[in-house]
Amino acid sequence: MPFLKNPRSYMAIPPAPNEDSDGAARWPRQRGLTQALLCPPKQRSCYHMVELCLYLVFSIALATVTFFAGRHSVSLKDCGIRLSTWSPALEAIEYQQVMFDARFAAPSIYRGKPTPQLDGAWETMIHRGAGSLRVEKQDLWRLNKTADANRTVTFNDGSGDYPTMLEVFHQLHCLNELRKKTWPDYYPDVEEELKAVDRAHTDHCIEIIRIALMCFSDVTPVTASFVDWNHGNPVPDFSTLHTCRNFDKIFDFVQENAEEWGMWA
Ligand SMILES: *[C@@H]1O[C@H](CO)[C@@H](O)[C@H](O)[C@H]1NC(C)=O
Ligand SMILES: *[C@@H]1O[C@H](CO)[C@@H](O)[C@H](O)[C@H]1NC(C)=O
Repeated sequence: MPFLKNPRSYMAIPPAPNEDSDGAARWPRQRGLTQALLCPPKQRSCYHMVELCLYLVFSIALATVTFFAGRHSVSLKDCGIRLSTWSPALEAIEYQQVMFDARFAAPSIYRGKPTPQLDGAWETMIHRGAGSLRVEKQDLWRLNKTADANRTVTFNDGSGDYPTMLEVFHQLHCLNELRKKTWPDYYPDVEEELKAVDRAHTDHCIEIIRIALMCFSDVTPVTASFVDWNHGNPVPDFSTLHTCRNFDKIFDFVQENAEEWGMWA
């Protein structure tokens, strides 16, 4: 076992003291291993080329590693932004882990027999969220839209910018309209001449919620539990873990940034 018996045999060879005046004798100490293998002795330009190549290879490798490492360390917020259509409200996106409370009888200010308080909760959420956020003229293309100069609504300030509402508030409005339809005794039916429009509105609302649900395609696994109240049979447990956008942050962003309240709200 020469490694164990004589470990010092792998130490660097000490310089020969008498060779310093002789240029040829210096090169084994100054040349790296690669240069020594690739370049003939005394060719400084060759050493420099080899050094440059090594430097370039190292830089490219470092840049590549940094690039891929960076791609895997984006924040949840950055992910959310990348996965979203551009919006003036992107900066309000914030994620949080939420366990849905989906027990059958879980209380909520939005559910149950209509009262002025319950209606108020829905109306406040929807109408206060329906303020107009500004989309600057030059950003319209980000929505894959082109303006019709005679029809697309603009702010009345000569900017040519567009007032916009966030979709989540439209979807919530639609859900609220469907909720009202399930309490026909509380909410008066529309007049006869508006019946067809009202039916179309209801169908539109069902459709927009279907499209949104399929678009977002929540793939959270739902387990099942045997429960006494179902005679010992299993029922799904819809109280599941989600990574949610913080709705309050988006709602607050609209409160702070909406420039016009007349159009929908
Ligand atoms: C975006 O707009 C272009 C031009 O109108 C259209 O061809 C394209 O299909 C649109 N993209 C989507 C996803 O609808
Ligand atoms: C807008 O209206 C003007 C005047 O009525 C008309 O000449 C023009 O063709 C319209 N433009 C579009 C894109 O419809």
